[in-house]
Amino acid sequence: CRIRHYKFNVVLKNTTRLCSSKPIVTVNGHFPGPTLYAREDDTVLVKVVNHVQYNLSIHWHGIRQLRTGWADGPAYITQCPIQPGQQYVYNFTITGQRGTLLWHAHILWLRATVHGGIVILPKLGVPYPFPKPDKEVVVILGEWWKSDVEAVINQATKSGGAPNISDAHTINGHPGPVKNCLSQGAFRLAVEQSKTYMLRIINAALNEELFFKIADHPLTVVEVDATYVKPFTTDTILIAPGQTTNVLVTASLSPGKYLVAASPFNDAPVAVDNVTATAILHYSGPLSTTATKLTAPPPKNATPVATNFTNLLRSLNSKQFPANVPLKIDHSLFFTVGLGVNPCSTCVNGSRVVAQMNNVSFVMPKIALLQAHVFNISGVFTDDFPGNPLIAYNYTGTQPKNFNTMTGTRLYRLAYNSTVQLVLQDTGMITPENHPIHLHGFNFFVVGRGIGNFNPKTDPKSFNLDDPVERNTIGVPSGGWTAIRFTADNPGVWFMHCHLEVHTTWGLKMAFVVDNGKGPDESVLPPPSDLPKC
Ligand code: C2O
Repeated sequence: CRIRHYKFNVVLKNTTRLCSSKPIVTVNGHFPGPTLYAREDDTVLVKVVNHVQYNLSIHWHGIRQLRTGWADGPAYITQCPIQPGQQYVYNFTITGQRGTLLWHAHILWLRATVHGGIVILPKLGVPYPFPKPDKEVVVILGEWWKSDVEAVINQATKSGGAPNISDAHTINGHPGPVKNCLSQGAFRLAVEQSKTYMLRIINAALNEELFFKIADHPLTVVEVDATYVKPFTTDTILIAPGQTTNVLVTASLSPGKYLVAASPFNDAPVAVDNVTATAILHYSGPLSTTATKLTAPPPKNATPVATNFTNLLRSLNSKQFPANVPLKIDHSLFFTVGLGVNPCSTCVNGSRVVAQMNNVSFVMPKIALLQAHVFNISGVFTDDFPGNPLIAYNYTGTQPKNFNTMTGTRLYRLAYNSTVQLVLQDTGMITPENHPIHLHGFNFFVVGRGIGNFNPKTDPKSFNLDDPVERNTIGVPSGGWTAIRFTADNPGVWFMHCHLEVHTTWGLKMAFVVDNGKGPDESVLPPPSDLPKC
């Protein structure tokens, strides 16, 4: 294994999209940022130098960070931010993982433009469990605002209401021609007849789950969130912010140009950016026609398309060789996820939208939780996050009389190597909505999913303990639930939150604190000397 060195200069860069220009925060002047390449077992050192006026931190989304929580990146959770003019070296080893992940800023709304792919190749000599593609291409989906993204969220925080939606989606940084701006370019996916391509698709958008499809070309899904799945073929994939999906696509049609489309999925009555991003799959050589073959994206509320896709995801395991799912459960947890409304004297509206887990809207601390945990600094957090909702109301359907939530920096404590089952239940407060929940520090098995209220007596009987998909980000369906299991084998403080940035901002987040074990390899490593100070 090797040591890979990267340097991320975080700089402003004037960028033109949708026929207008603005300065954006970038890594090395690129949007999306550079792809980080490594191999399983490699050690990666990324020196991040902050040349902008914002506080900064970068998260390596999906990297397990075994015992190296200091390199995980969420600001005020595992580190204090890198202040303007300062730098920090993220130093971590990739253990037992290979596939596609992403890195992104993990503070404010900087993730909108500060993100890029992570490609982890298998160990030398280890093949993929599917035929080797002729070529691999990273495809990053994103969102673009014409106005300054920090201004968008600051404005919403002041009013207490919802922020403006984005103006377009992007594929590798480009929306493709849209109404009012027909001339701009689109990402071009160049292919050769009869070759097979592996697209490493990443959803780096802030606030939207996306459908992705290519005209006439079926997609064979082989991996999600850097774990292999039983291959299946589909014309449309669903991908939530923070998720990654590898698909194989073969250029076997008549040589021409085919539309690639990324469009929103949201089955809640909330405002979404309904502009489809387009790219062109372009055969090399003489084309049979110059017209681009079009495709119609699913409507934004196409729940059956989303559900179908989600239900097809299975790990490579089988009844005979089952996945390593914990069977004996130490912590059986039930968390509601959803929105709420709290009074707000400083807000224009007099109240503000909040978001909660188990009726607690999370308050960000002033110093990093991991530091407070490791150095026993009291008064930063409490470890009384409720394992079940304190007010057991309205999981779905009816609205409560009172939308208020509690606030606090509450964590849930797990013993080293204890096992966890967590049922995440959408509450339908204000409105049922799909929430892509991301857990730092672990992969989890998705053992069950359903619509309506979770029934603790009957639903566990149908849990899939043989070949559940393993991932780091899972959509809790609108008005429904999903059940995950994992083993707390990574000491540290691990953030869990909705990966819709607006919901995270509103407080849909919490953290687990996993204590050190007794063995020498079971505790958090000492912090690096350049760890930023608050
Ligand atoms: Cu990709 Cu805590 O985030």
